[in-house]
Amino acid sequence: MAEKLLYIKSYGCQMNVYDSQRMADILKPLGYALTSTPEKANLVILNTCHIREKADEKVYSDLGRILPYKDEKMVLAVGGCVAQAEGAEIMRRAPYVDLVFGPQTYHRLPEMIARAHRSQDKKEGVGRGILDVEFPVESKFDHLPQERNDLSVSAFLTVQEGCDKFCTYCVVPYTRGAEFSRPVEDIYKEARTLVDKGVKEITLLGQNVNAYHGLFKGQEWGLGKLMEHLSTLKGLERLRYSTSHPRDMEEELMRVHRDVPHVMPYLHLPIQSGSNLILKAMNRKHTREQYLDLIEKIRSFRPDIALSSDFIVGFPGETDQDFEDTLDLIQKIRFAQAYSFKYSPRLGTPGAAMENQVPEALKAERLARLQNLLNQQQQAFNEACLGKVLPVLFDRMGKKEDQYLGKTPYLQSVYITSNTPLLGKCTDVLIEKAYAKSLTGPLQSDQQN
Ligand code: SAH
Ligand code: SF4
Ligand code: F3S
Repeated sequence: MAEKLLYIKSYGCQMNVYDSQRMADILKPLGYALTSTPEKANLVILNTCHIREKADEKVYSDLGRILPYKDEKMVLAVGGCVAQAEGAEIMRRAPYVDLVFGPQTYHRLPEMIARAHRSQDKKEGVGRGILDVEFPVESKFDHLPQERNDLSVSAFLTVQEGCDKFCTYCVVPYTRGAEFSRPVEDIYKEARTLVDKGVKEITLLGQNVNAYHGLFKGQEWGLGKLMEHLSTLKGLERLRYSTSHPRDMEEELMRVHRDVPHVMPYLHLPIQSGSNLILKAMNRKHTREQYLDLIEKIRSFRPDIALSSDFIVGFPGETDQDFEDTLDLIQKIRFAQAYSFKYSPRLGTPGAAMENQVPEALKAERLARLQNLLNQQQQAFNEACLGKVLPVLFDRMGKKEDQYLGKTPYLQSVYITSNTPLLGKCTDVLIEKAYAKSLTGPLQSDQQN
C-alpha cells in the first residue's frame, strides 16, 4: 500500500494527546504514517480544545495557515471538543474543512475519510463537509485497535471519560458527554500492550479519573483497586493518574498511595477557588474546609505527597475578599506546583450568563499575584529536595548533546548530561541544584565510583 502522510495537531488536555495517538493507531493499517508538518500531508487532523476562548480561537487561525496547502489530495479534518461544541459553526466559518467529528466518534474515521474521498471524486466542492458529532451508544473503545504505536517511556491510557458534575464555568460535560468507565480487563490488556512495548510509566486519564468505577467480573472497582491490579504488570515501574475531583477522593485511593510503590506520590486535585461563596457559585459541591480536611487526610496516608491544583481567578462575583481567601488557602496547603487561569466565559454555560462579570484588567492583576505565590511555593518545594537522592525516570532526550530529561516521583523535571544511555532507565540522582521549574545533579552511581 502506498504510504500516505498524516499530520495531527493536539490542543488542550492530555486526553486529547491520547485520542490523537489512537487516531494514528486506527489510521496506520490504512497506510497513514505520521508527519510533523501539514504541508505535504494527505490527511490533516486538528484535535481541538474548547475549554477557554483562546484555545478555541486558535483553531481558526491554524485553519487559515493550513488553507494555502490544501489541494484536492488533502483531506482536512477538525476533531475534538470545538468540533463537538460548534461543528456547524466550523463548517460555516471554514467551508473548506472536509470532516468534523467529536471526541466520541473518531473510531469512525476510516469510514468518514472514505466518504470524503468519494465526494471529492464527484467534485462536489464547497459544502461537501461531513459532520459526525453524535454521542453513540456504543463505546469507541470497543472499536479501537489493540495495537498502540509511536510510544515512548511514559504513556497515557484513558480509563474514564466524560463528566456529570456541571461546574458552572465548564464546557467539558457538553463536549465529552456523560461519565463512563472502561472495564478493568480492557484497561489491563491495553496496559500490558504498552508495557510489552517498553513503556515504564503509565498515566491513567479521565476528566474525573478518581470517579472511576469500572467492572471486574460483575463487581465495580474504584481507581485504587485498578492501580493495585495494574501494578502486577512485570516491567511497569510507575503509575500516575489525572485529573481528580475532591468529591471522589476515596480512602482506598489514599491507601494505595501508601501501600503500592508503583503509585507515585503526586496528586493533582483542582479546587478552583478558596472562597466558599465562589465554590458554591461554581457548583463545585465542596467547601474550602472539606478540601483542607481532605488534604490533611491524604497527607496522613502519604506525608511526602506532592500536591497540585487548578485555580480560576475572576469568576463572576469574585470580590477582593474571595480572592484573598484563595491566596490564604494556597498559603495553608503549600503546593508543589499548580495551574491557574483567568475565567473565560463560555457560551452555553451558566457562568457566562451571570451578572457581576469581573473586568479583564482585574482578572489579570489577580492572576499575576496568584501565580507569583504559586511560583514561590514551587521554588520552595524544589529547594526542599536539595541534598536528597531521588529516583529519576528518564523519558526524553534534552536539546543539548548527551542531555537527558526525566521526572522525580514528585513530577519535577530533572536535566542531566551523561555519556551512558539513560533513556527508559530509572536511576538515583543526587539533587544539587534546584531551579524554578527543574532540578539537576549527578547520578548517584557516579558519586560512588
Ligand atoms: N476535570 C478537571 C478539569 C477540566 S478542565 C476537573 O474537574 O478538575 C481543566 C481546568 O481548566 C479546570 O480545572 C479549570 O481550572 C480550568 N477551566 C475550565 N473551564 C474554564 C473557564 N471557563 N475559564 C477558565 N478556566 C477554566
Ligand atoms: Fe469541568 Fe467541573 Fe467536570 Fe471538571 S468536574 S470537567 S471542571 S464540569
Ligand atoms: Fe479541552 Fe476538551 Fe480537554 S475542552 S481540556 S480538549 S476535554
